[in-house]
Amino acid sequence: MKEISIIVAVAAHGAIGRQGGLLCHLPADLRHFKSLTTGHSVVMGRRTFESLPNGPLPGRQNIVVTHNRHYHPQGVTVAHDVQQAIELATMPGEVFIIGGAQIYQAALPLAHTLHLTEIHADFADADTFFPPLKCDEWTEVERESHPADERHAYPFDFITLKRLS
Ligand SMILES: NC(=O)c1ccc[n+]([C@@H]2O[C@H](COP(=O)([O-])OP(=O)(O)OC[C@H]3O[C@@H](n4cnc5c(N)ncnc54)[C@H](OP(=O)(O)O)[C@@H]3O)[C@@H](O)[C@H]2O)c1
Repeated sequence: MKEISIIVAVAAHGAIGRQGGLLCHLPADLRHFKSLTTGHSVVMGRRTFESLPNGPLPGRQNIVVTHNRHYHPQGVTVAHDVQQAIELATMPGEVFIIGGAQIYQAALPLAHTLHLTEIHADFADADTFFPPLKCDEWTEVERESHPADERHAYPFDFITLKRLS
């Protein structure tokens, strides 16, 4: 069975995005995302794929989920639901679900691990949200806290949660 991991940056109230983009720029979070996902398959919704500034993420199998049977962008594997996306994953180790909200919602029941970046900020204009977590289903196994600094406008924590079996 494949190990399924969700990776997401979440602010107050479960906010993850606004107007098709991310809420803020945290360079350490981008490095963390790159270091965890490189060498693995990543699964994303069509909208998240189209929000990537430079197309497919290098060093990873990019699997894009869409209803559209005629969607064939270069350099990606196309799937028509999350289950099929996971089946099409060919790179070793964890399969990373990288968003957005629709794909997180569909993948959450399948996930074994959550890699959360908890951003300590409240974005009043957020319009996209991570589904609520049931606290009796998950246990925190790791937390690394980072203060705000000149490159990071908000403090944030890298948290790993494992599903309670
Ligand atoms: N904070 C974070 O870590 C993070 C990470 C990723 C994304 N985001 C943010 O999340 C937002 C995008 O999220 P979103 O929920 O709007 O879009 P999304 O989940 O990225 O993509 C939605 C699209 O995926 C396809 N889809 C969804 N469910 C499907 C299913 N069951 N079967 C087939 N296709 C399916 C559909 O594509 P078609 O319309 O082509 O059929 C749908 O329009 C952006 O603001 C982005 O920046 C945040």
